[in-house]
Amino acid sequence: MSLEVIILAAGKGTRMCSDRPKVLHQLAGKPMLVHAINQAQMLQPICTHVIVGHGADEVESVVKPLGARCVTQVEQLGTGHAVAQAMPQVNNNAIVLVLYGDVPLVPAALMQQLVLQATQGDLAILTVTLDDAAGYGRIVRNSKGHIQAIVEHKDANAEQLQIKEINTGILAAKASLLNGWLPRIKSNNAQGEIYLTDIVAMAVADDIGISHLQPDFPQQTQGVNDRLQLAQLERWYQQQQANQLLRDGVQLADPTRFDLRGELYAGKDIYIDINVIMEGQVYLGDSVHIGPNCHIKDAHIGAGTQILANSVIDQAQVAEHCSIGPFARLRPGTIMHDNSKVGNFVETKKTTLGKGSKANHFTYLGDATVGENVNIGAGTITCNYDGVNKFKTNIANGAFIGSNSSIVAPVNIGAGATVGAGSTITKDIPDDNLAIARGKQRNLASWAKPVKT
Ligand code: UD1
Ligand code: CA
Repeated sequence: MSLEVIILAAGKGTRMCSDRPKVLHQLAGKPMLVHAINQAQMLQPICTHVIVGHGADEVESVVKPLGARCVTQVEQLGTGHAVAQAMPQVNNNAIVLVLYGDVPLVPAALMQQLVLQATQGDLAILTVTLDDAAGYGRIVRNSKGHIQAIVEHKDANAEQLQIKEINTGILAAKASLLNGWLPRIKSNNAQGEIYLTDIVAMAVADDIGISHLQPDFPQQTQGVNDRLQLAQLERWYQQQQANQLLRDGVQLADPTRFDLRGELYAGKDIYIDINVIMEGQVYLGDSVHIGPNCHIKDAHIGAGTQILANSVIDQAQVAEHCSIGPFARLRPGTIMHDNSKVGNFVETKKTTLGKGSKANHFTYLGDATVGENVNIGAGTITCNYDGVNKFKTNIANGAFIGSNSSIVAPVNIGAGATVGAGSTITKDIPDDNLAIARGKQRNLASWAKPVKT
């Protein structure tokens, strides 16, 4: 049986106090709605329908590239009404999985179990037992323990308010069943809304089996209504990721001070000190050592490389046994070959450093190709930009650039060439030459020191 997913995401999210639609607020670097879509897509549905309303255009621009389709719910008349908006596009023979765009951490495996139960003909609902059930729809059972109905908090009587098992909102059922139930839902309730939850009592009346599942952790079905809940869910998610990395053999100095906003592919015997943030796709080879306060994004770091404190790495490829930082900044397009070194207050952009080459202190290398075993002295600047265009610098193998040199691109520095400290290089230097381009020193013996007047 084919699967279609309907994700409710039309609500305003007033309590976020934000101009951005709630479902686009990020958890671990990714919009909450995208978490839900990514997990749902692991089940390979034939279609994912996202019900949009508030901020529809913004939501659509995020959802469309993922292959989901948006259905606009002009007025938010309730969760039952929201699901009904998508049903005309849903195949009557399909299984429908209903998710919420503001419940980001439902695992695909749990969704799969609900779908399986729906395939067997049941209305499958996801419930959770909470210490504080305030605000949620309560799961009402009869004396035999069979689910009879879901009663919303605002409609519940004193006895029902004592119930701790609540509706997460996530459910699955055959489209044919939903098509029978949805048009019959009335809005004669405390909120005057078309409650999706009313289908539970309808299923009971129709003698349709109701199966229920619970998550392993309540956070997996936790919805986000405000920024406090989002921050709490973020911390839980980060803790889960950190625990998994520790189990996989990555040493985190403190799992509560590590943030991963994306994917980390890690080898063995890696050490990560405190306050490290990783984003996007990060690959770390065996025995990589990362000092405190580093920010690493979309980077490949080869085995045995040391990244010292307070370094920032963005879209860089670093080979093996390199050394970076402290206080280094590798910008997009940086390639470091084996055993190369970028030291403190060095910035690189679109630059290749050959094997064994070093830029140890206070340097800017932009649009530069540096060969092997080159020494870049402290304070070297590649002047790659004339205010309009960018130009390239080539520094061949074994060159030595003296400190405080300005290298005005485009320029080629030959193999084994030496640049005298303090030079401003504007012309190519042949192999093995010494280039000095600085004012000559004069010592004036006749000079008299100024005297205070
Ligand atoms: C809903 C459930 C409640 C459950 C709770 C879990 C109903 C009637 N109640 O209540 O049993 O315990 O979720 O969090 O279903 N939405 C739309 N269009 C609408 C209304 C809502 O897209 O017309 C979306 C919202 O953006 C949100 C989700 O549906 O993502 C849930 O809506 P919300 O108003 O938060 O439902 P609750 O009242 O919390
Ligand atoms: Ca809610």
